[in-house]
Amino acid sequence: CGIVGYIGHREAYPLIIKGLKRLEYRGYDSAGVVLFDGKDLKLSKTKGKVSDLEERAEKEITLNGNIGIGHTRWATHGVPNDVNSHPHVSNSGNLVIVHNGIIENYEPLKKELIKRGYVFHSDTDTEVLVNLIEEVKKKDNLKLGKAVQVALNQVVGAYAIAVFDRERPTEIIAARLGSPLAIGVGEKEFFIASDASPFIEYTSNAIYLDDEEMAIIRLDKPLKVRKIKDDSLVDPYIQELQMNLEQIEKNGYDHFMLKEIYEQPNVIKDTYRGRLHANEGIIKMAGVEDNLQKFLNAERILIIACGTSWHAGLVAEYILEEFTRIPVEVEYASEFRYRNPIIRPNDVVIAISQSGETADTLAAIKLAKEHGAFVFGVCNVVGSSISRETHAGAYTHAGPEIGVASTKAFTTQITVLTLIALRLAQAKGTMSKSDFHRHLQELELIPAKVQEALQTNEVAKAIAAVYKDAPNCLYLGRGYNFPVALEGALKLKEISYIHAEGYPAAEMKHGPIALIDEQMPVVVIAPKQEHYDKVVSNIQEIKSRSGKIIAVVTQGDEQVKALADHVIEVPYTIDALSPLLTTIPLQLLSYHIAVMRNCNVDQPRNLAKSVTVE
Ligand code: G6P
Repeated sequence: CGIVGYIGHREAYPLIIKGLKRLEYRGYDSAGVVLFDGKDLKLSKTKGKVSDLEERAEKEITLNGNIGIGHTRWATHGVPNDVNSHPHVSNSGNLVIVHNGIIENYEPLKKELIKRGYVFHSDTDTEVLVNLIEEVKKKDNLKLGKAVQVALNQVVGAYAIAVFDRERPTEIIAARLGSPLAIGVGEKEFFIASDASPFIEYTSNAIYLDDEEMAIIRLDKPLKVRKIKDDSLVDPYIQELQMNLEQIEKNGYDHFMLKEIYEQPNVIKDTYRGRLHANEGIIKMAGVEDNLQKFLNAERILIIACGTSWHAGLVAEYILEEFTRIPVEVEYASEFRYRNPIIRPNDVVIAISQSGETADTLAAIKLAKEHGAFVFGVCNVVGSSISRETHAGAYTHAGPEIGVASTKAFTTQITVLTLIALRLAQAKGTMSKSDFHRHLQELELIPAKVQEALQTNEVAKAIAAVYKDAPNCLYLGRGYNFPVALEGALKLKEISYIHAEGYPAAEMKHGPIALIDEQMPVVVIAPKQEHYDKVVSNIQEIKSRSGKIIAVVTQGDEQVKALADHVIEVPYTIDALSPLLTTIPLQLLSYHIAVMRNCNVDQPRNLAKSVTVE
């Protein structure tokens, strides 16, 4: 879910709506806003997107007021409908709240409140929280900040909240545990949001709350940050933001996803800039250098991640094992954390996360740390929870990724992980000097080759037109390109709702081959590299069962061209780097299919970009 709040001298409404739109990547089942105009609270909320909210609010309420909070939701408790939408109001009608996360013990709290006469209108845990705050406040005649603190100490779960009291409209209380929250500090005005994007055009000063911290934000007194547990004061650290507005706008592209696909040549370069010095034969990454011994002593590398980041982890498994000969295991964070995993002190854990906020990944990191492992993060969002929780790390420099389907995050994650693998191979002596140099030089050529791979756009679009109505699609790849097959299938599923499966090409004959008939499109990733001949045999197997073959091949390939129904040609590169190129046309293919099917490309149904619930 996403939160936006404002207190100051501007009209809160337009700013909150614009901010919520920027946060819609965090969820878009329902949305709501509450404003206070000095006299009345004005609340409007609805199932649907922020644009639905806008339509409704403009009819339902007057839109003035200099204090307000808004919310865009990804449902956890209670179906997405109007009543379950946030903000929620307390029984007295005075307190209003927006909340991300889950209150796990909401049931006993709710029962207790019902006994005391409270009435509930929604199925949400949030309505319980706002009434709990009200009850605490009333019972002991506390100020709002204190009441929030006492209430939060009774709560089990995760949250980021913003609350205000219509009787004291010069103050907003914000608090976080497990869900991110940033406070923009302006001149006699404050912004509260799940990330800084809603307020970057107003201020570049931000405070990021840590877990178990709350902020008492007032217009008439200095801002205070306190620890929720022991009430101690924390010196608020004001950070200067690096983000700019252009980075989070579409720049003339129809969708963020397409813009982000096209940014890949630049962001891959940004990711290795200053780290890769091909001519000198040097790779320098502070997080790796400072902990080189830990990596070199590693008996095993465990990679934990979710979703697309997990696929980047799989690519890294092939690369790391090949280059460094260190055994690697890749795990879904959610499986890892709940299965009593074996974690030894000499394990190095690499956690990969675009957002740096994924709840399961964060919890897996904490578990690994408890077992004494060294944890290294690969995140895109600077200052995110995972980047702070890990011992060290390296950022991908992809810039904000807004499209829910991840694209540039994936390729920049692979870039960082490749740099790490190469540096370790150099330090361990597991790669010959000439191979090492060849890889460095080739990596430097990748942005230009990705640029070339983007020229497959028209071909991908033409293929999309042929298969846009297919009910199923199979993706096959081997070796480094097996994870690319998984990622290609995931992209298609996510944004076009076509059922798709990725498989290692050779495994096809152990099951999926039964699905193949003249209706079935099969995307085969078949660049000219090791196992090429084997993939060609797999293509023949599909062909003899009349499957439709869409092959991603190396430029100039004639053999597969003669067999396939369609080919998409990408430039040649060395085996380990080929995922950076073969992925590109698969992203474009899913994009065009989704557009042709009239799907919401940037905000596919039921998904959220940043999953801060378990
Ligand atoms: C969500 C997103 C995916 C993403 C996954 C992991 O499911 O929709 O695109 O790959 O979370 O997110 P992370 O931010 O940890 O990489």
